[in-house]
Amino acid sequence: MGIIINQNVFTLHTDNSTYQMKVDDKGILLHTYYGQRTDETDYSYLITIADRGFSGNIPQSGDERGYSLDTLPQEFPVWGGGDFRVNCLQADLGTGVNDCLLVFDSYKTYHGKYALEGLPAMFASGEDRVDTLEILLKDYYEEFYVRLLYGVFEADDVITRAVVLENKSQKDISFNRIMSTCLDINNSGWDMIHFYGRHAQERQTERTALFHGITELRSTRGASSHQHNPFVILAEKNTNEETGCCYGVSLLYSGGFHMQAEVDQTFQTRLVMGIDDSDFFWRLKPGGKFTAPEVCMSYSSTGLSGLSRNYHNAIFKHLIRSTWKEKQRPVLVNNWEATYFDFNAKKILSIAEEAASLGLDMLVLDDGWFGKRDTDFSGLGDWYVNEEKLGCSLEELVHKINDIGLMFGIWFEPEMISEDSKLYREHPDWAMVVPGREPVRARSQLVLDMTREDVQEYIKERLFSVLDSANIQYVKWDMNRSIAAAYSAKLPGGQQGEMRHRYVLGLYSVLEALLERYPDLLLEGCSGGGGRFDAGMLYYSPQIWCSDNTDAVERLRIQYGTSFAYPMSTVSAHVSVCPNHQNGRVTPLKTRGICAMQGTFGYELDLSKMTEEEKSIVRNQVKSFKEHYRLFQFGNYYRIVSPVENHDVTVWEYADKNGKEACLAAVFTDLYGNAISHIVKFRGLCPEGKYKLFRDGEFEGEYTGAALMQGGILLPVPKEDYDSFQFYVCLEEDEG
Ligand code: GLA
Repeated sequence: MGIIINQNVFTLHTDNSTYQMKVDDKGILLHTYYGQRTDETDYSYLITIADRGFSGNIPQSGDERGYSLDTLPQEFPVWGGGDFRVNCLQADLGTGVNDCLLVFDSYKTYHGKYALEGLPAMFASGEDRVDTLEILLKDYYEEFYVRLLYGVFEADDVITRAVVLENKSQKDISFNRIMSTCLDINNSGWDMIHFYGRHAQERQTERTALFHGITELRSTRGASSHQHNPFVILAEKNTNEETGCCYGVSLLYSGGFHMQAEVDQTFQTRLVMGIDDSDFFWRLKPGGKFTAPEVCMSYSSTGLSGLSRNYHNAIFKHLIRSTWKEKQRPVLVNNWEATYFDFNAKKILSIAEEAASLGLDMLVLDDGWFGKRDTDFSGLGDWYVNEEKLGCSLEELVHKINDIGLMFGIWFEPEMISEDSKLYREHPDWAMVVPGREPVRARSQLVLDMTREDVQEYIKERLFSVLDSANIQYVKWDMNRSIAAAYSAKLPGGQQGEMRHRYVLGLYSVLEALLERYPDLLLEGCSGGGGRFDAGMLYYSPQIWCSDNTDAVERLRIQYGTSFAYPMSTVSAHVSVCPNHQNGRVTPLKTRGICAMQGTFGYELDLSKMTEEEKSIVRNQVKSFKEHYRLFQFGNYYRIVSPVENHDVTVWEYADKNGKEACLAAVFTDLYGNAISHIVKFRGLCPEGKYKLFRDGEFEGEYTGAALMQGGILLPVPKEDYDSFQFYVCLEEDEG
């Protein structure tokens, strides 16, 4: 078991990290260690007790002025008790003010992983080396309990945390802040790496030093958002891809979130993360419980690369449930950038025919097939096939597509409603609009009140009816606006602060029902591209459309940022037409293919309009992706040259977990006269292995793994704008 309890000291071990906490003589649950794997020494000897002045002393500390929650590292700091730093809970336990003081009550451990009702959570099977520790804290005065849950994934070097609040008192309890985790570190000087952006520019990477005071990231948008991602890294100054220490914190939640990192007066660092509390208020009746979303934490002493691999492996093994996880993902063509709203069945079939002849596996029919939907001003909510527009039924269309040899997928945006829709005319109160006020529109649409059961039932009925009407293997679940005023006609006035979280719970319950009914459905998440690319969503959809930006060069930065927290098999990426629709850039088709192969591969253009030369390139791309899909889907991913730090070339690699083969891609982002050559080094090979090296399919020579990793290879000099190269190596005995 990875959990060792020695009197009042709780030590959690994964293979390469150790996490420790201790109940002190005042009953406070201190955080004493998180870092490289070590022993069960009681690390509380590292805590300084000293009177810092103006730091409060709790009743249990008597005359001990130096004992203050304001300076102690803790597992679950709350507001009250004289800790003035950022905290995990602001609760009114019936006194009329926020004030709480938590002390240790009891604990239990068991083999396996706790589950969370209605929320995504990592899971484990019986054979996995995964254990749970539950620690129950209680308010010093009231029958109010906080259950801290820890999942210890020994082999994967991650520890999950979640929190359940339990009101066993006779009073109503309310809280306006509940964070899922606190990471107290006993020093400062940390860099924070985070992923900011905007629509079509998601997950740009920024590294910044924490300062004395609070650094915060949040989404107030009702979704995890394009603007910030609920994943953050704290890294030592010198940490780079291969060396140095770093922590990752990932929130498994798809709504708004809040992350704060505070460097305090005694040079300690505290990081808290949880549900966005800017417009949050929750009332807990006697007997009521509240579960805060899970976080997944990891520590790496082998740099950022090691940290990412921990997340990639843990998410793949313990978060993604889809039956498609292990299966070869279909190479698909999506008609969005090919036709936008202007299509009928004939047009779709012409694309499908071409797709089949080029070796693709699936056609995805995007926005515009339902209700009155020839522009984005109308139709959302009316999930009835527009047979007049298609010229046939969906069943007939899908039949023909299946006959051509392709699977079929379809787009929905279930959480939304257009005012110009039958649904809105019948149920205006299903939209979240504050009574007596004009709605705030975005993309000319409103958001459905996902907290309502009747809304959930309607969505399920419509989705199920469409999915039952034809042979549909894939659904792209989109969400194309942020939530401004979150109002429900069903909730009492004093509880409107619960809306945003209840919305997310409603969404999760519909997604769960969908997957329960169609366990083999391939669900692709989407929110105007990657506006809801978070670990919560990956519990439901094994892949997410990474960005509405399909320009290969901009995708280098977006996919680079995404790779820190999420496995590349979750990153949906397509080849689109040039000039690119988002920025007008022209890139070689070869490069667009190489960039899209960084994730789950597909096309988003009118294949029927391609020249014969282009078609032959596409045919080869599809063939090559399928030949190597195991590497792309299951291999270890390495960021080798960063598009943020290097403006000449970006390089990444996939290596088989046993080092038998690898694929390294290089995309040039600048050109020079009299150019110099770049050397890049492979990772993850067997040093003594003898490898055959191929460049763009052509045999180049034989090298040892040591030569490829320590010496490296010379990249060719680019011959045109955005030139690119793909290198493949395999052990000689494994070739073929
Ligand atoms: C969003 C998605 C796109 C496309 C459109 C359709 O922007 O990200 O891929 O599906 O909606 O309206």
